Amino acid sequence: MMAISEKLIVALDVANLNYAYRLVGQLEDFVQTFKIGSQFFTSFGPAAIRMLLEKQKRIFLDLKFHDIPNTVACAAEAATELCVDMFNVHAAGGAAMMHAAAEAAKLKAEQLGVNKPLVLGVTVLTSIEEKQFQRDFETTRKLIDQVSYFAELAQRSGLDGVVASPREIDVIRKVCGGDFVIVTPSVRPVWAVKNNQRRVMTPAEAIERGANYIVVGRPIYASPNPKEAVVKIFQEIEKA
Ligand code: C5P
Repeated sequence: MMAISEKLIVALDVANLNYAYRLVGQLEDFVQTFKIGSQFFTSFGPAAIRMLLEKQKRIFLDLKFHDIPNTVACAAEAATELCVDMFNVHAAGGAAMMHAAAEAAKLKAEQLGVNKPLVLGVTVLTSIEEKQFQRDFETTRKLIDQVSYFAELAQRSGLDGVVASPREIDVIRKVCGGDFVIVTPSVRPVWAVKNNQRRVMTPAEAIERGANYIVVGRPIYASPNPKEAVVKIFQEIEKA
């Protein structure tokens, strides 16, 4: 079984490379996986990712690719070449695009003799609530049905799992089974503010419900004491 510390992914959504290095240094004994998102990648690029890999850290490259299948396949190859452990694409890009990403990662990994990264689908962003979803997408469909449909489509298209709100874990497990990887952002420790996350749960609740990984950003990197924040999260999970 996976240790609790392996289940936590810390989002490095920071604008300062020195701060990122310091943060990783402070957390490296506790945290194995860091998430690199669009802000970090746009500012600091692949070189910063290599720095994390040199520290034997695992990387979730959260760039949420969404483009024509050929372009996304090329991006998937590039992510595999970088040796990240997971990356994601928007399920809204469709089955052909997701399939192209999964195949490209598999072939590239075989070619290089490296592990294939997990390829994850983003269902509906966890910052979006039901009313906003129905208004913005001009639909009467329930958000949970959209999430469930996208998760099933992602699985059928060869993806390894999805990124979803913890509230959606039960439904996704029912549709996609126990082996499908579920990564849940939108978790907030009991002591933290929600920020602009909407469909939230605590880390302990998310893991109890069956999340394989939880992603936590602001409650850790914006904390005056990030190490203490991580330890408190582990304690909260263990207590549950
Ligand atoms: O700071 P916070 O804990 O809200 O960070 C959550 C992280 O997870 C952010 O980097 C955000 O981009 C990411 N994420 C998300 N919802 C998704 C996919 C990724 O919040 N559906």
